[in-house]
Amino acid sequence: MSKEIYLTGDRPTGKLHIGHYIGSLKNRVKMQNSGQYDPFVMIADTQAFTDNARNPEKIHQALTEVALDYLAVGIDPKKTTIFVQSQIKGLFELTEYFMNLVSVARLQRNPTVKAEISQKGFGEGIPAGFLTYPVSQAADIAIFRATKVPVGDDQEPMLEQTRELVRSFNHAYHSDVLVEPVGVFPPKGQGRLPGIDGNAKMSKSLGNGIYISDDTDTMAKKVKAMYTDPLHINISDPGHVEGNIVFTYLDIFDTDKQRVQDLKDQYTAGGLGDMKLKKHLIEVMEAEMAPIRVRRQEYAQDIPAVLRMLQEGSNRANVIAEETMKDVRHAMGIDYFG
Ligand code: TRP
Repeated sequence: MSKEIYLTGDRPTGKLHIGHYIGSLKNRVKMQNSGQYDPFVMIADTQAFTDNARNPEKIHQALTEVALDYLAVGIDPKKTTIFVQSQIKGLFELTEYFMNLVSVARLQRNPTVKAEISQKGFGEGIPAGFLTYPVSQAADIAIFRATKVPVGDDQEPMLEQTRELVRSFNHAYHSDVLVEPVGVFPPKGQGRLPGIDGNAKMSKSLGNGIYISDDTDTMAKKVKAMYTDPLHINISDPGHVEGNIVFTYLDIFDTDKQRVQDLKDQYTAGGLGDMKLKKHLIEVMEAEMAPIRVRRQEYAQDIPAVLRMLQEGSNRANVIAEETMKDVRHAMGIDYFG
């Protein structure tokens, strides 16, 4: 029996940060190692072009950085097919056919796209490809007949759109060649790591991120600059745990829950300084991130090998995508010449 397929991906627009690691990469590695799935992980360069069309160098550079981040955190090319979106030609074809099964009005209602449009300040100049990227993303998922899509909470509208397109396709062409996927979301409270400035979202554009590739000193410096409790001025002052980012991070990185509770009690009572607390956070983060960083540096020694790995993954992904496309063309009746 063939295994259930999961597919997910990231736009290559920069190095991945520990928000990606906590919210998504860790879960992918766990699913990969469970042996229950046939995993596919895509570097979504085609999608990155939808808002970076005039900046190809950025995408090229980020492609290897993202691949290194994947390998470093334990996505294993022997278990997971790691591939590059632009190399899968069937995706462009399926996207084009999907485009006719969705209305412009429906695309304009997609809440994630709406938020991104206002955030990116396109004004009147929204690229057509940007408005339609959920259609291309639906093709990404459908072409591999993925049933599970491990992603952050913000991707739910994409999955909704994918299910609608799969249903429309199967209905329009009286077929059952495509399957509806479901999202696999991080556990509540673990999904989103805030930025070091306290902003709910860690992002490159906000400059509030800690990167998987950051060295010890850079990471320590960022933790030391982290937003805490503005009312906690003297060590002896009672402090607030609620809204204090250091505790948000400790809840995620420190596996000794009793110790975290003790620190919270001590902080609330007064007598625990921010620096001492942050030094502890640096220690637990370092324990988790140091081995990842070392592996990243090792892989970075041989970039041609990383590119070969991506090429091999793309070759395998193409074979699977082509199998689906044969069924798609047959369902649509466009396999005119056999
Ligand atoms: N939209 C996703 C992001 O911005 C990347 C992505 C592209 C994706 N295609 C996908 C995620 C298919 C899951 C499945 O991170």
